[in-house]
Amino acid sequence: MASKDCILAIDQGTTSTRAIVFDRSATALSLARREFPQHYPQPGWVEHDVEDIWSDVVLTSREAIAKAGGVERIAGIGITNQRETVVIWERKTGKPIHRAIVWQDRRTSALCVKLRKEGKEEDMRARTGLLLDPYFSASKIAWILDHVEGARERAEKGELACGTIDCFLLSRLTDGKVHRTDITNACRTALFNIHTQQWDDELLSLFNVPRALLPEVCDNSGHLGETDPAVFGRSIVIGGMAGDQHAALVGQACFKKGMVKSTYGTGCFMLTNTGEKAVASTNRLLTTIAFRIDGKTTYALEGSIFVAGAAIKWLRDGLHLITHASQTDDMATRVDDSHGVYMVPGFVGLGAPHWDPDARGLICGLTLGSTQAHIARAALEAVAFQTYDLLRAMIDDGAAEASALRIDGGMAANDWFSQFLANMLQVPVQRPKDLETTALGAAFLAGLATGVWSSTDEVAATWQEDSVFEPRIDSDLRKKLLAGWHDAVRRTLSTYG
Ligand code: G3P
Repeated sequence: MASKDCILAIDQGTTSTRAIVFDRSATALSLARREFPQHYPQPGWVEHDVEDIWSDVVLTSREAIAKAGGVERIAGIGITNQRETVVIWERKTGKPIHRAIVWQDRRTSALCVKLRKEGKEEDMRARTGLLLDPYFSASKIAWILDHVEGARERAEKGELACGTIDCFLLSRLTDGKVHRTDITNACRTALFNIHTQQWDDELLSLFNVPRALLPEVCDNSGHLGETDPAVFGRSIVIGGMAGDQHAALVGQACFKKGMVKSTYGTGCFMLTNTGEKAVASTNRLLTTIAFRIDGKTTYALEGSIFVAGAAIKWLRDGLHLITHASQTDDMATRVDDSHGVYMVPGFVGLGAPHWDPDARGLICGLTLGSTQAHIARAALEAVAFQTYDLLRAMIDDGAAEASALRIDGGMAANDWFSQFLANMLQVPVQRPKDLETTALGAAFLAGLATGVWSSTDEVAATWQEDSVFEPRIDSDLRKKLLAGWHDAVRRTLSTYG
């Protein structure tokens, strides 16, 4: 019989689900991926059918396991997921009572504005490290309870369960036996106090969410549950769970205070490890739990940008400017500059440091000389400019000047983008060999719980650099580009004019 020396990582993202089997050397032995439909019932609304998500999780996992040599090699499963997206389901049947409301969804913007006007943000921020923005789960949970007939009453009676995607998948994988979430996902709901590390009664009453709906909150690594044998042919321990950005921090081996990573998926999320201290931001960044392993909590400061890879996807699916994301590398290289064109990808409002849910996207500086290549380049530049704004805010918040930025996710494969990023940030940008860092982080968490790796030091030793991009740009040109960007951003804000 084969030895159990591998981990299956399930990475359930905003637009696709990936399953990857990693061995002890952190090498991916197999990968299966499926994109799933997005639902936009009204402008600003985004929903997922969780049955699509569940069937993709099962299909990709089975495929990855088979390609890697079979289920006998799997020591454990790690789950990582799009954060904040919420589902409410019936405890008895496991059936959802509504489609999942996705993190990008802005339908609860008015409720958040109302609570802000009532002066509730400061207290909420002190407890959660977050802001009063529709991005977080709490207002979305309240919306489902208020719009699905009988839901509130059933929730109070304990007939319904609620959770982020990690929690929903854990419940399905265990055939409804386990209702748990991990601490990183819990801290994105706006119902969880990051200092007491408990669901918070004040917040439950602020958002009118019954406690009976909520899961037990666990460490990121440990025995979280066992899969029902019907799913993979035998039961497997689920040993790790974390929100995708926190998992990427682990996958990038940012275990030491001051280490910083930026992940370019649908959005871009930069996290700096701040050690045992929850650093309160004065620049509208988020304070979040990076991970809790063996009961020991590490905090992080986070800058969240809602659109990164989604802008490139829009060039492909909305504008039909490209047929594959990788073409943008060549297009950006072909032109000397963006010809004065700027794109502000505020498709779903703007996240940090602006937090303007009503801002919308913009392309400006167009002339008759503007070409497709300039627009593609402007889209890539926009993501780098936004990352610059995040790093600036972190430094202003007192985070140590980073000696390097570790990047991952789809856009990190783009050499032109990585170099431009280094030029704007003025720090070396390090790219690891494996860009599936989010999945790798989930694998590490599960592997620590199941004996595949014995310590975070052993995990850190597997991190391998692929390339490093050193800053090289004329400083006046850099200043000019950043000034043009900040001017374009001002025009998109809902307060403009
Ligand atoms: O907070 C949302 C984030 O978790 C989504 O991640 O990878 O889909 O951009 P991603």
